[in-house]
Amino acid sequence: MYDRVGPDTIRVAVDQFYHRVLGDPRLSHYFAGVNMSRLHRHQALFIGQILGGPVHFQMHQLEAIHRRLRIDRDTYWAAAFHLIAVMSSVGASDDVRLHLFGALLDLEGRIVANPARAAV
Ligand code: HEM
Repeated sequence: MYDRVGPDTIRVAVDQFYHRVLGDPRLSHYFAGVNMSRLHRHQALFIGQILGGPVHFQMHQLEAIHRRLRIDRDTYWAAAFHLIAVMSSVGASDDVRLHLFGALLDLEGRIVANPARAAV
């Protein structure tokens, strides 16, 4: 899948993704002060990894980075649906979008803050 989509298309999708995220009042405030060019780069690598490209991230790293942001489920899915939407707009096929959706379902448990665990 990674070879089929390719890094250039992923980069375009990531640009569109953060354009949408920063324009969404439910999400934009989380990114205040964040180095966005680094984030674009890392997000592109991560999407490549989801699609079967080279592995750059361990899931526990992503969990640690997002834990302090206290992201709830609705916020997570707001961002996740922007990601799926931009994959459509760059022309990704149904199987790619379905695969991405599956990965986002798996990732939810890593990124959404878990109140039970936070209380420990
Ligand atoms: C939808 C699924 C999501 C994916 C696939 C994802 C992926 C990533 C990746 C790959 C990074 C870079 C990690 C690194 O630099 O090592 C990152 C960082 C970040 N993410 Fe997410 N993320 C998601 C959801 C969210 C949500 C819902 C928010 C908040 C609304 C969010 C806020 C952030 C912020 C603020 C950073 C930068 C942290 C920093 O550099 O200090 N992410 N994310």
